[in-house]
Amino acid sequence: MNVQTTNISHFPKQLASHSARSPHRRPALFSVPNESYAFRFSSHSPLVTRERFATSTIVKTSSPTPDAILQTAFGFWNSKVLLTAVTFDLFTALGQQRLTGAEIGKKLQLHPRGLADFLDALVAMKFLEREGDGAEAKYFNTPATALYLDRSSPRYIGGIPEMLNARLFKYWNDLPEALRTGKPQNETKHGGKNIFDELYADPDKLECFLDGMTGISRINFEALADKFDFSRYRTLCDIGGATGLLCIEVAKKHPQIECISFDLPPVEPVAKKHIAAAGFTNRIHTATGDFFQDPLPKADVITMGMILHDWNLEKKMNLIRAAYDALPSGGVFIAVEALIDDARRENVFGLLMSLNMLIEFGDAFDYSAADFEKWCREVGFKRFEVIHLAGPSSAAIAYK
Ligand SMILES: C[S@@+](CC[C@H](N)C(=O)[O-])C[C@H]1O[C@@H](n2cnc3c(N)ncnc32)[C@H](O)[C@@H]1O
Repeated sequence: MNVQTTNISHFPKQLASHSARSPHRRPALFSVPNESYAFRFSSHSPLVTRERFATSTIVKTSSPTPDAILQTAFGFWNSKVLLTAVTFDLFTALGQQRLTGAEIGKKLQLHPRGLADFLDALVAMKFLEREGDGAEAKYFNTPATALYLDRSSPRYIGGIPEMLNARLFKYWNDLPEALRTGKPQNETKHGGKNIFDELYADPDKLECFLDGMTGISRINFEALADKFDFSRYRTLCDIGGATGLLCIEVAKKHPQIECISFDLPPVEPVAKKHIAAAGFTNRIHTATGDFFQDPLPKADVITMGMILHDWNLEKKMNLIRAAYDALPSGGVFIAVEALIDDARRENVFGLLMSLNMLIEFGDAFDYSAADFEKWCREVGFKRFEVIHLAGPSSAAIAYK
């Protein structure tokens, strides 16, 4: 495979290997001001040496610290604080302003007991800035929270933390059961419906899920539009296109391309709304259907963002075949996913995403570039490459 850029070397540190064998590589998620605290989660914590404990003989062998274990064990505390802040819309409430704790408490209707702990924990985690100390201190957005977690920002990604808070936080509590049974643990756990039928029967759940997809995919689609050479192509069809985001990002940067966003019927009105808001009704169209029943619209480029990982191998192969059939000779098939590294040792997020597919679907799973190449070769694709997109995600590309 022609790997243009591998994904592994580009992972942000938080998403890269959590191997207990290299705890010194772990970035500190907590930081504490002095050594007297029980845990010092720092990438530079001094090695604990056995000589500290030995009284009669000095043994100089160093032993590993428990930092990595504790940091991951307590990770859900950090996660829940951030998810709660997004769900309260704290970052939008702050917007461009600087507000005291009391002013924020009044806006969000919060009890005074937890307020300073909540806000200062967000400061310590670098999700808020604070000017001054005590009751007069003012809190404000960081550059990242202003860009990604203030709803008025065109690059808002808060839909994914909101979806994690509303759904997956509780479903992951049943991971042990999923591991024992191989069965999904979400809304489908006690009924026979497909998850999309389940979610799309309720307009609030449909919106929550699609906003979640926007949140997780925005930076990948922006990167795809920047990094892949679309100049040779005139038509693109995004399969399972949700709100039309991939088409919108490609259309923004490549004026020669006409796009179709293909998805299930309940999604179409939402996609149309987003496409109109972005001003692309002339160049982005919608089409509806079931990608397991209906032929895919023909196009020079067929894209699937986080589609293949939703299904078992048989269904993955059906989708790859359908993409092949919809392409002309020389056409290109692009799958955007948190591709697992071939050796399955590095991309923690990709591996956890695959466990998330267990929680959501049971038999669905994430995969590596080598898997993608093998499956696509079987169907007839001839040439392959991988382009790293953002964070743990990549585009796996197959040419017909
Ligand atoms: C995990 S989401 C991915 C959304 C988007 N591509 C992204 O990467 O953000 C899967 C998408 O596939 C669509 N989908 C699921 N089953 C489908 C089917 N049988 N036919 C067409 N679309 C389907 C869903 O409606 C949803 O938009």
